[in-house]
Amino acid sequence: MLKNRKITVAVTGGIAAYKACEVVRGLVKLGADVRVAMTENATRFVGPVTFEALSGHPVATTEWEHTPEGAMPHIELNLHADLLLVVPATANILAKAARGIADDLVSALILAHRSKVAFVPAMNCHMWRNPATQRNVEDLKRDGAHFIGPDSGFQACGDTGEGRMTEPADILDLLPGLFSEKPLSGRRVLMTVGPTYEPIDDVRGITNRSSGRQGFALARAARDLGADVTVVAGPVTVKRPAGVRIVPVTTAREMLGAVEGELDRSPYDLFIGVAAVADWRVADRLEGKWKKDAGLPQLRLVENPDILAAVGHRAGGPVTIGFAAEASDLLENAYAKLEKKGAAMIVANVARDALASDTNRVLVVTDGEVDEIGPADKDEVARKILYHAVDLLEEEYGPEDDL
Ligand code: C5P
Repeated sequence: MLKNRKITVAVTGGIAAYKACEVVRGLVKLGADVRVAMTENATRFVGPVTFEALSGHPVATTEWEHTPEGAMPHIELNLHADLLLVVPATANILAKAARGIADDLVSALILAHRSKVAFVPAMNCHMWRNPATQRNVEDLKRDGAHFIGPDSGFQACGDTGEGRMTEPADILDLLPGLFSEKPLSGRRVLMTVGPTYEPIDDVRGITNRSSGRQGFALARAARDLGADVTVVAGPVTVKRPAGVRIVPVTTAREMLGAVEGELDRSPYDLFIGVAAVADWRVADRLEGKWKKDAGLPQLRLVENPDILAAVGHRAGGPVTIGFAAEASDLLENAYAKLEKKGAAMIVANVARDALASDTNRVLVVTDGEVDEIGPADKDEVARKILYHAVDLLEEEYGPEDDL
């Protein structure tokens, strides 16, 4: 989504300017064409040479020098940009942007922008909370500006609170959403992701090789398409998506409890069961760490609850999508699962190709049709699966406009 995008990064004068280096580096790595402009104050925190090296282009720091093309920088830098990303955005630049003040290069750049503009605020929590800043943010949003963050946490000034700049990796995760259409806007999506872990004793357990990658790719895609996403996640180590609520659990029974708790609290439009739920758990969990010299433990396994089926057969429940990782007979098994799980759609894949891999190939099976997706990277597979979900939701609830 960011490949070949033309992005102008405007850096303003806050300590978080050093993190903008990582944003620029990440954007370039993702294939974006990046130009950088800096306020004079920003150059006190990070030298333009750093951004020049990272972006591969000269950095504009003043409106008093023409670009190599002979144009005025605040016009030239906007002319070709798909996005103007102000990172970090200080309280000062938000105030100037909200009022249309253009007294330096970056503020002029913002006033002259003709594409999308996104602000990534970073400031002391009291400055952020100040009604003046909040008013400016509201005004800018009303004018169509996008905001990423701020997050809460420890701040450079020693305070802890809201105003901390969103981490570069999360900014890069959230940016593609700015370029996406929003057919899932207003929809609430609940998902299960990752493996579950069923303890044998305090240190050993039964689990599987699910990484959570396909599930998180689906969560990202749903978020980018405009949905409000909650993920009940088993123990996973891959990077979590930003802008998605995560409910961490360990066992299948905890996963079921968390899913039912969510559904009891408020209605969801769509449930996607991606988790590789362990089929069995140990009936009588051993205390402490079972000693090797105590002999072989006698483990009795019992079946875990089927979370997808529980949601699929729930009266008045959400539209339900399940996954089926099979070794063979993909289609037959998928049809059987539609019925057994009460699902509107089953996404079937070959287990060996899907687990712990970056790519996937799937069959999307509904009552009426079968569509093959991939082999493709899991993000692309996720997006295409969700377009099928958009169709299902329209069939169930009517078009998005009726929300
Ligand atoms: O029955 P099977 O494990 O093949 O079904 C896979 C689908 O069912 C996946 O969507 C998975 O998330 C879901 N599932 C579940 N609870 C289980 C087993 C599977 O939600 N106990």
